[in-house]
Amino acid sequence: MSLRLGDIAPDFEQESSVGRIKFHEWLGDSWGVLFSHPADFTPVCTTELGLTAKLADEFEKRGVKTIALSVDSNESHKEWIKDINETQAANVGFPILADRDRKVSELYDMIHPNASETLTVRSLFVIDPKKKVRLMITYPASTGRNFDEVLRVIDSLQLTDNHSVATPGNWKQGDDVVIVPSLQDPEIIKQKFPKGYKALRPYLRMTPQPNK
Ligand code: BEZ
Repeated sequence: MSLRLGDIAPDFEQESSVGRIKFHEWLGDSWGVLFSHPADFTPVCTTELGLTAKLADEFEKRGVKTIALSVDSNESHKEWIKDINETQAANVGFPILADRDRKVSELYDMIHPNASETLTVRSLFVIDPKKKVRLMITYPASTGRNFDEVLRVIDSLQLTDNHSVATPGNWKQGDDVVIVPSLQDPEIIKQKFPKGYKALRPYLRMTPQPNK
């Protein structure tokens, strides 16, 4: 099945390095990042999982739970976690799904047969507290993902949900943001943006980041 933005992230039950996980129940009211790896004991994946572990406080600050996946076994995951912790000076505290039967990989379309018949590509999904898919990225096996970018997108999504703003290209924390075009009522705009805004065009209204 191929997923699209705005779809409900499929629920599943699967084994993991921390026990059996019922995905939606495990997510609870949190945001989630579900990301797949081609295989255990591969170099790029080792660095990515180390990075995710080291960014644990950043994910927690944003109310995000992280969960990785590969089609290897739990025994393999447990051995690999020792390597990740040792080589990346990290402490992997999040689950790694052991998707031996490829149940989750297929639900999330993580196997791209023309890239590999059997292994998952580097997919990543950001899921919101309503279980909607809000970001999907797919990277090739040889390119590690940029987890600062993943955090940046989560910040942008949370700003949109909480403050009715969108973020311009290359936006970073503290930069001005744009008022979403759907917001037109002048009274509401005044209430929501007490710092004011600058209309470069009627459709392009810049305002200081509201939560700074
Ligand atoms: C990996 O670490 O997963 C990897 C590295 C080079 C090529 C393909 C995969």
